[in-house]
Amino acid sequence: MKKVSIIGAGNVGGTTAMRIAETGLASVVLIDTVENVACAKASDLEDARYSLGSDTRVEGSSDISRIDGSDIVVMTAGLPRKPGMTREDLLVKNAEIMTNVCIGIAEYAKDAILIVVSNPLDVMTYLAFKKTGFPRERVFGMGVNLDTSRFANLISKKLFIGTEHIQALVIGSHGETMLPLPRLTKVRGKALTELLAAADVDSLVKQTRGRGAEIVSLYGSGSAYMAPSAAIFQLVETILTEHRRELPVSVVLDGEYGLYDVSIGVPAEINSRGVEKILEVDLSVEEKEAFLQSARSIQDSIKALNI
Ligand code: NAI
Ligand code: 2OP
Repeated sequence: MKKVSIIGAGNVGGTTAMRIAETGLASVVLIDTVENVACAKASDLEDARYSLGSDTRVEGSSDISRIDGSDIVVMTAGLPRKPGMTREDLLVKNAEIMTNVCIGIAEYAKDAILIVVSNPLDVMTYLAFKKTGFPRERVFGMGVNLDTSRFANLISKKLFIGTEHIQALVIGSHGETMLPLPRLTKVRGKALTELLAAADVDSLVKQTRGRGAEIVSLYGSGSAYMAPSAAIFQLVETILTEHRRELPVSVVLDGEYGLYDVSIGVPAEINSRGVEKILEVDLSVEEKEAFLQSARSIQDSIKALNI
């Protein structure tokens, strides 16, 4: 049986474990420095096996060596946002956590595919790439996949149309400079820009950018985890079931879009080996400038960390 380890048994880690356990795709190991929480969530999930007719094993531990031999490691350890905080405010503390955890991942799961979720997402993905020494195909971040799902949901509600008819796209940082792309977002094959007035399109773009903060302020404590765990699960499922899907992820670029040595959200072909191919979409001059601006904001944070 395949094995997925999740570092951080908090809201995102626990919900992701539940999605994997319920489908029986892989056994799950939940690691958290707070061992009781990891063990409690593992036991709680295993107690659901009888009701759900599933036999997935879920183990909780504070011992990172338990990730030994994992096919996939999902990194969700770190602080979440509080109301009023941006994802970038988490930079220093989460970088420290990421650096420590990467030592364990490189030691015990050196052949795994690493999916980074901790924020600020693009900088953490770059840090994980540097600290694990994994090839870029096997270390990428989940951020714009969530933003794309949010954009599609908001479009669906605006147009009263099922999400299955929508092919949305968000690229750039999973942060303030994310770039929803209405011109390249299709509804029943037609560009969103052909279906809605410019003001409505702008409003959907703004709502997508602000969706994470909106949910943080509604919860009052902690950030979103239902849709994030679904977006992580989509990646895990693609890798484990040997499907091939085009999904946007944060990955270190090596000349694509004219950029080097920065991790940023771009559409990619994902399969059982991880990122098989980075897809270069045709951006207009304005879109390209906004994308480069987004890359510069990530590069500034990378510089600030002195990676
Ligand atoms: P949470 O606070 O519910 O869980 C985080 C867990 O990490 C806690 O249980 C904590 O004890 C654990 N932890 C801290 N240091 C650790 C270490 N060294 N080893 C193992 N476990 C450790 O937070 P939540 O909501 O689960 O979010 C986790 C992270 O994911 C945050 O940084 C958040 O901003 C980010 N996030 C990113 C998203 C994305 O789209 N990329 C979406 C949602 C959250
Ligand atoms: C979100 O977008 C916190 O990054 C997380 O909800």
